[in-house]
Amino acid sequence: MQAVINLQYLDMEKIEHIGIAVNSIKSAGNVYERLLGTSIYKTEEVTSENVLTAFLQCGPNKIELLEATSEDSPIAKFIAKKGEGIHHIAFEVSDIRAEMQRLKNEGFVLLNEEPKRGADNKLVCFVHPKGTNGVLVELCESVDF
Ligand code: CO
Repeated sequence: MQAVINLQYLDMEKIEHIGIAVNSIKSAGNVYERLLGTSIYKTEEVTSENVLTAFLQCGPNKIELLEATSEDSPIAKFIAKKGEGIHHIAFEVSDIRAEMQRLKNEGFVLLNEEPKRGADNKLVCFVHPKGTNGVLVELCESVDF
């Protein structure tokens, strides 16, 4: 049987990046630069989330390092609970609002009702990990701010 492929509309286009919670971007950045053989191409503070981010390119995908900038940052809470490690997987979407609606219709719980401004010129929305087998999922749409 032939798979039915919807050519008009791709839901999740690719894994855009993997977010890793770290205690220090300075030290973790050095580790990941050596691991991937490439330099951090961008660091950016996301004040709404109280995080400092750093990005490394790895082929078509990216690694996003996340460091808390305050104690009430979601990253500080994550590290306190689970330690450093993979924090989220981000999927690229071309129409974040349509995708948020599709996931709502599928019964997923979204952590924000409206797309938020994320790092690296993205509109983002997070999906509650309780509905995704423990994985925090991020949707991101590239935009020109
Ligand atoms: Co992210």
